[in-house]
Amino acid sequence: MIEVKEAVKKFLDVNVLNRVNLKIERGDKIALMGPNGAGKTTLVRSILGFYHLDSGEIRVKGFDPIKERVKVLENISFIPQTPPPIKLNVEELLEYVSKSSKTLRGDILKESSKMDLDVLKNLKKPFFKLSGGMKQKLLIAIALAKKSDILIFDEPTANLDPKAREKFYELLSSLDENISTIFITHRLEEIEGLVNREIYMDLGSIVEDERI
Ligand SMILES: Nc1ncnc2c1ncn2[C@@H]1O[C@H](COP(=O)(O)OP(=O)(O)OP(=O)(O)O)[C@@H](O)[C@H]1O
Ligand SMILES: [Mg+2]
Repeated sequence: MIEVKEAVKKFLDVNVLNRVNLKIERGDKIALMGPNGAGKTTLVRSILGFYHLDSGEIRVKGFDPIKERVKVLENISFIPQTPPPIKLNVEELLEYVSKSSKTLRGDILKESSKMDLDVLKNLKKPFFKLSGGMKQKLLIAIALAKKSDILIFDEPTANLDPKAREKFYELLSSLDENISTIFITHRLEEIEGLVNREIYMDLGSIVEDERI
């Protein structure tokens, strides 16, 4: 599903990704861990085509994240570490998402309500004025409603209260087994039952990659 070969990404002459090699197969449920600054977010952003590598190669279902960005993004649902400052109100955002990615509005509402987020009550609110947890829930709902077979979550539970966190993990546990997931987290204990592979990064390299 995803292949990363000898990926090098530099920021200010420092190798933030230092020859990373990684193969993600269909159905892999990965916990991606490692200290702050290890390069986790950079790796994920490179897979999404947000960064150009300095050298090496990435393919997502055979597509190049830079040259075939649209194809790559069609195949991935991504939840960023910090919610983007979207100016659209919730209604407009739903419309935009359903038009641009063939995601059904009804599915977004359904996934939201599973996390106790009442979208209909908030339609007129600009996205950036939602609370941190509400933003996160809405982004998660959109990602799940998109029904991609690759899901990437960059610490999505940081803003969620304990109950919402639990609901979120419940949702994850009901994902199709063929879906591949990368789950960046500092709290392995919370997702241990949901993953079958643990990857540790440090200083831009993968230092451990274990199937469990
Ligand atoms: N756009 C950028 N410009 C310059 N440096 C960057 C940029 N993005 C990331 N870095 C640097 O790359 C290193 C890795 O950052 P990254 O965000 O990938 O870490 P991370 O493993 O996701 O950490 P965290 O657990 O804190 O989220 C850090 O030293 C960071 O300062
Ligand atoms: Mg990060």
